[in-house]
Amino acid sequence: MGRITWFFLVYCCCCMASLSMAAHSNSNLTTDQSALLALKARITSDPHNMILTNWSTTTPVCNWVGVTCAARHFRVSVLNLSYMGLTSTIPPELGNLSFLVGLSLKNNSFHGTLPPQLGHLRRLKLIHFSSNNFMGVIPSWFGSLSKLETFVLYGNQFSGPIPAAIFNLSGLEVINLSYNQLSGSIPREIRNLTKLKELYLDHNNFKEIPNEIGSLDQLERTT
Ligand SMILES: *[C@@H]1O[C@H](CO)[C@@H](O)[C@H](O)[C@H]1NC(C)=O
Ligand SMILES: *[C@@H]1O[C@H](CO)[C@@H](O)[C@H](O)[C@H]1NC(C)=O
Ligand SMILES: *[C@@H]1O[C@H](CO)[C@@H](O)[C@H](O)[C@H]1NC(C)=O
Ligand SMILES: *[C@@H]1O[C@H](CO)[C@@H](O)[C@H](O)[C@H]1NC(C)=O
Ligand SMILES: *[C@@H]1O[C@H](CO)[C@@H](O)[C@H](O)[C@H]1NC(C)=O
Ligand SMILES: *[C@@H]1O[C@H](CO)[C@@H](O)[C@H](O)[C@H]1NC(C)=O
Ligand SMILES: *[C@@H]1O[C@H](CO)[C@@H](O)[C@H](O)[C@H]1NC(C)=O
Ligand SMILES: *[C@@H]1O[C@H](CO)[C@@H](O)[C@H](O)[C@H]1NC(C)=O
Repeated sequence: MGRITWFFLVYCCCCMASLSMAAHSNSNLTTDQSALLALKARITSDPHNMILTNWSTTTPVCNWVGVTCAARHFRVSVLNLSYMGLTSTIPPELGNLSFLVGLSLKNNSFHGTLPPQLGHLRRLKLIHFSSNNFMGVIPSWFGSLSKLETFVLYGNQFSGPIPAAIFNLSGLEVINLSYNQLSGSIPREIRNLTKLKELYLDHNNFKEIPNEIGSLDQLERTT
């Protein structure tokens, strides 16, 4: 390879590095803070005063209750608002928490539909939305969350079929969709989920459970 070629190779690498740095500087802890403040603004009831006083811009966002930041990049990595008794909807801004790995909202009164912007959370491994009042179909953008391992929507009012896109998520280990109003048949692609250990689909309106479920080697418990 000639010198000129090398020059262009090095040059291109530098360009790409600076582009990716630029992409990162578009989003920082301030972005995460605005996303959380957008959520706070949606909360209509906080009976134990967990959030409304605590999530104050006079304290660092990583010290807010329910918020965990990753030591490596100082961005919000886990948002856990479980058992806080909150009534709220989810704002689209939550999709800006681009370093989020875990989102747990267990046992609250979150309601409404899920904004498609949540499909941008490409690092998410855990979604725990159980025991809330979410409604609507299970959106197919869940299929873009390629790192997802735990997917729990237990105890909501989700309706319609399970989107086939979910069965593209080859890292899934736990699926718990019990106690919703899901219908249709369970797609045969479910056999693609070779890492699945737990699958709960009871208390829905499904037509049939395909035989393929029996062929999931790792499966420990099914209902
Ligand atoms: C975060 O990014 C915004 C622009 O997107 C910038 O104005 C702000 O100064 C940055 N904040 C920090 C703490 O880097
Ligand atoms: C918010 O809650 C966290 C965790 O419980 C606590 O450490 C912190 O002191 C609280 N901050 C304020 C301003 O109340
Ligand atoms: C979230 O918080 C609850 C209660 O504080 C705790 O039991 C649970 O393990 C936490 N979940 C995650 C994913 O951090
Ligand atoms: C965050 O998301 C919202 C809505 O999805 C968007 O309008 C906003 O510009 C985004 N960016 C920042 C840095 O807050
Ligand atoms: C979850 O919330 C419901 C009320 O919505 C309550 O009856 C139940 O005991 C809670 N579960 C746990 C484990 O706290
Ligand atoms: C599964 O992923 C493949 C490759 O990324 C894509 O082409 C296909 O459309 C996806 N299937 C569904 C049902 O989303
Ligand atoms: C399931 O796996 C098969 C082959 O392994 C592949 O052709 C198909 O696209 C996969 N379907 C989904 C929805 O991922
Ligand atoms: C499904 O998730 C809910 C909420 O976390 C839990 O209470 C329930 O035990 C799970 N179902 C099974 C069969 O584990």
